Amino acid sequence: MTAPRTPKIPYGGDYNPEQWPETVWDEDHRLFDRAGIDTLTVGVFSWSLTQPAEDTYDLTVLDRILDRAAAEGRRVCLATGTAALPPWLAKRHPEVNRTDFEGRRHRYGQRHNFCPSSPAYQKAATALASRLAERYAEHPALLGWHINNEYGGACYCDLCAAAFRTWLRARHGTLDALNDAWCTTFWSHRYTAFDEIEPPNALTEHWRGPDHTAFQGITLDYHRFTTDALLGCFLAEKDAIRAHDPDTPVTTNFMGMFRPLDYHRWAPHLDFASWDSYPPLDAPPTWPALAHDLMRGLKDGAPFWLMEQTPSTTACRDVNPLRRPGELRLATFQAIAHGADAALYFQMRASRGACEKYHGAVIGHAGRDDTRVFREVAGLGRELQLLGAATLGARTPARTALLFDWDSWWALEISDGPSRLVRYQEVVHAYYRAAREAGADVDVVPVTADLTPYAVVLAPVLHMVKGDLATRLEAVTERGGTVLTTFLSGRADEHDRAFLTDVPGPLAPLMGVRVDEWDARPQDVVQPIAMGGLRTEARLVFELVRSRGAEPVATYGADFYAGTPAVTRHPYGAGEAWYVATALDQPGVDWVVRRILTRHALLGPYAGHAGLETATRTAPDGKRLLFLLNHTPDPAHLTAHTSATDLLTGKRFEKGEPLTLDPLGTAVLHVQ
Ligand code: GLA
Ligand code: ZN
Repeated sequence: MTAPRTPKIPYGGDYNPEQWPETVWDEDHRLFDRAGIDTLTVGVFSWSLTQPAEDTYDLTVLDRILDRAAAEGRRVCLATGTAALPPWLAKRHPEVNRTDFEGRRHRYGQRHNFCPSSPAYQKAATALASRLAERYAEHPALLGWHINNEYGGACYCDLCAAAFRTWLRARHGTLDALNDAWCTTFWSHRYTAFDEIEPPNALTEHWRGPDHTAFQGITLDYHRFTTDALLGCFLAEKDAIRAHDPDTPVTTNFMGMFRPLDYHRWAPHLDFASWDSYPPLDAPPTWPALAHDLMRGLKDGAPFWLMEQTPSTTACRDVNPLRRPGELRLATFQAIAHGADAALYFQMRASRGACEKYHGAVIGHAGRDDTRVFREVAGLGRELQLLGAATLGARTPARTALLFDWDSWWALEISDGPSRLVRYQEVVHAYYRAAREAGADVDVVPVTADLTPYAVVLAPVLHMVKGDLATRLEAVTERGGTVLTTFLSGRADEHDRAFLTDVPGPLAPLMGVRVDEWDARPQDVVQPIAMGGLRTEARLVFELVRSRGAEPVATYGADFYAGTPAVTRHPYGAGEAWYVATALDQPGVDWVVRRILTRHALLGPYAGHAGLETATRTAPDGKRLLFLLNHTPDPAHLTAHTSATDLLTGKRFEKGEPLTLDPLGTAVLHVQ
């Protein structure tokens, strides 16, 4: 199953009319018409209204919301609403509240904090999902199902401990296998019964917080268990929906690069992926782009929904800056350029009270349609109407893959040694950024993905190498492709046990190097690196590389290993394998990645224009779309590299003609 079929990009977002008297709803719908809003996500936080007591359901408000939407010609993404508990449930069944990392059983409050192993929660949530599906499966407004909201976090209660032990039996089979996987002979941990096993938290294996564990294997398995436990909640609701509604696509809103949950384990169970984009302050444009591509990679490149973004400002940060004029439009087209087939906001109307009253909304407290934000939202609504179905279902014809692996992320960041300063996302982003800024389309894929479509495979900080991955990477180079990996790759198996071979383990033959030692240094220790004509720097970790067939491309400039390789290239089969033994600064990463892309003629047509992003999508009818996104505050003066028509303006360009993009401007070129 794929995303819901629509005649154009669904446009709208989270809408909570139950917080308002119905007279306000009239005004909402009038304003929605003005802004081209056709899709509303409803019911995300209405459990205490729809089920005011254990044996009482009351769907009258939801009925009115959906009926009104249908009468107005709008579609609804209907949430099951199981992410925020009603007070009666927590009072009656205190075990639905989570026990935190410190071992404290929480009491009623907040949201997104139910215990995934609690039968009382599971029963109530699936019963509610079932009620809603029964009632609305045939409703004319229903477009898609939105289960729960932003699943995340972990629970350490006794119910979860018991569920963890059951999960461990299924995963490891026997205690011998488990003891072996976790290396329990270290520090006298050999388990003789499953019920001796405790969830890893501040009371057991951890000190100084969730990333400091005595046993990486145990903590990794708890991350996997938590992923699966929450997935179990999702699946139980999905099954309840499916019993009444076999057809309507089901999703849940993810959070992009969200460390706690391995979304690749969830991906097969979603009908379509969706996510909420709130980029960190001051993130470069490649940061949300990486998350978009990761989300697109969940379903083999199928389009996803942008389920939430703020039209103007967030509220949860210490300081919440505005999106500047034009930034919302640019971010929205960037999402579409990377595969979004819906553009939705949090939120349609600002809530009057509580912690999100300052959160940006399409309609503010004063209900005006002449604010800057409303005008920008409405302007975008008109453009999306104009775009119609042109981008729907379009795929990204990427020839570069970037491997993204939650296991490696977790293992790297819960490791004691070599350095706590190495952050998985930062290293992965540096390589992604280099490829994207060079104009290459990039698929961000799991390590299990089919690698045959790719000429280039980037596998930075691939701490764990699992299954037959090394062989599949070798196959990429054998047929002429290029594989890159970096420091702290090929270190451990799926249980985080070191390989009993030279580093980088199963990747060593492909890389043609051997690493015996590594030097981790504080942030301010810099290694000068000379690479071609480029003088750049490296930091954090310096692996000492001995060639076993690879040729040095760059060498360290200081310390006792001055003159030894920092970057190597190894001809392998008809292709090449690159090993980057240190955390190069961005210019160094750019240099390496551009060398690789050049070999495969994958540099984009505007790779020389800093701040200009390009992204390709191929529509189901074969139309090639090239998105141009100017991330700078200045106009971008380009020369059209091909003849094309801008779908947003209808303007045609012949090859060689000047093509100017406004500051923060966008063009969606239909390339002919
Ligand atoms: C998340 C949630 C929303 C809302 C927004 C605010 O994405 O899903 O309910 O809290 O954050 O930014
Ligand atoms: Zn629990």
